Amino acid sequence: MSVKYRFPEGFWWGSATSAAQIEGAAAEGGKGKTIWDHWYEIEPHRFYDNVGPGTASDFYHRYREDIRLMKEIGHNSFRFSISWARLIPGGRGEVNPEAVRFYNDVIDELLACGIEPFVTLFHFDMPLELQQAGGWESREVVDAYEAYARTAFRLFGDRVKKWFTFNEPIVPVEGGYLYDFHYPNIVDFKRAAQVAYHTMLAHAKAVRAFREAGIRGKVGIILNLTPSYPRSSHPADLKASRIADLFFNRSFLDPAVLGEYPRELIDLLREHGQLPETREGDGELLKEGKVDLLGINYYQPRRVKAKEHLPNPYAPFMPEWFFDPYEMPGRKMNPYRGWEIYEKGLYDILINLKENYGNIESYVSENGMGVQDEERFLKDGVIQDDYRIQFIRGHLIWLHRAIQEGCNAKGYHLWTFMDNWSWMNAYKNRYGLVSVDLKTQKRTPKKSAEWFRKVAQNNGFD
Ligand code: NOJ
Repeated sequence: MSVKYRFPEGFWWGSATSAAQIEGAAAEGGKGKTIWDHWYEIEPHRFYDNVGPGTASDFYHRYREDIRLMKEIGHNSFRFSISWARLIPGGRGEVNPEAVRFYNDVIDELLACGIEPFVTLFHFDMPLELQQAGGWESREVVDAYEAYARTAFRLFGDRVKKWFTFNEPIVPVEGGYLYDFHYPNIVDFKRAAQVAYHTMLAHAKAVRAFREAGIRGKVGIILNLTPSYPRSSHPADLKASRIADLFFNRSFLDPAVLGEYPRELIDLLREHGQLPETREGDGELLKEGKVDLLGINYYQPRRVKAKEHLPNPYAPFMPEWFFDPYEMPGRKMNPYRGWEIYEKGLYDILINLKENYGNIESYVSENGMGVQDEERFLKDGVIQDDYRIQFIRGHLIWLHRAIQEGCNAKGYHLWTFMDNWSWMNAYKNRYGLVSVDLKTQKRTPKKSAEWFRKVAQNNGFD
């Protein structure tokens, strides 16, 4: 097979997942409750079709079969997260031996199949007790997270060489403290800022712990970098776009890569009386949080404009952005989910990292296409997801180009390996290379899985 787009040797090919979305066994194996288990108990109607995280894709019981399938479809790496509440039920204190056994088995099985484990420590699944103790608003929880990270490094650091402290840390901030789409459903900008700040302190403490543990590997963070494009060249829109970039990208990217917050962000928050509480010594700590490796989750850009008529309900100085298809003719949309498809956004992210962030080593830790009612594409027992192949291909072409131009990107993990439970959307949008029958849990690779296997095997495509 001729390979027009060839990737550098040793490129990581694989997919990404998270504990709450695939493991299931939510009340098994000694696992403690997370905020998701709890929220589902008290407000099941907030979840699509009233489906909670109880079973997910049952990875807890089926991981051997799943890992073998990953191998078959060409994975040389796989990203998953550890459930804090499974490893340390309650978030603090005793380690759960059943969880140690489970994660040891998963890691060993992956390595036996020649698949490098990429491990995330926190993917939205706060242990319930810690949320009740104040969640990320509390310094106690920051310390509990550090202890959890140390435990994970000690238990698994002999075999896991790629670690990520957080996945998309902005999401619990936005979802839980600004827009009411995650528990604890608070809408308060100042508290959101505190949560964001503490998350980055927790990150820095985990990075410091990683260095102290002497693990011969890399530590990083996974950010959903969302390129911010102004909706027009009007100066107000340009400014709004810059502010959106500060809030949603740079408030995590700058501390993670440069070890400090952007001056502009601090000034903006101060001007509006929204600075979080800090303590002496935080600045030094943040500097210790500089990463070796950055994961980039990219789905769609943010098209920004200044607010016009209504005051923004979340904070008067926040700009507005749109994900609607009508406002900007010519935008390509995912017709099965309604998100914009803009492949070049990935290239723009990587060029920005090259030019402004020391060309930090990075990789695409998520990218993928969600589709509603995907069974309609079933033919001869296989989902014919040509649209997903096109989606991945389009992004890989821009990724390849960025690498050709000197960007330091080392891999691509698709979201996701198999159809899984996705927070409030439950199973509404399917993203997997492998479809999962929710009644029987039967796995069937989609057409894209075969295509992905070839790409991984050839380290590129035509
Ligand atoms: C990003 C998140 O990390 C993941 O948990 C989620 O399911 C996907 N995006 C798809 O929306």
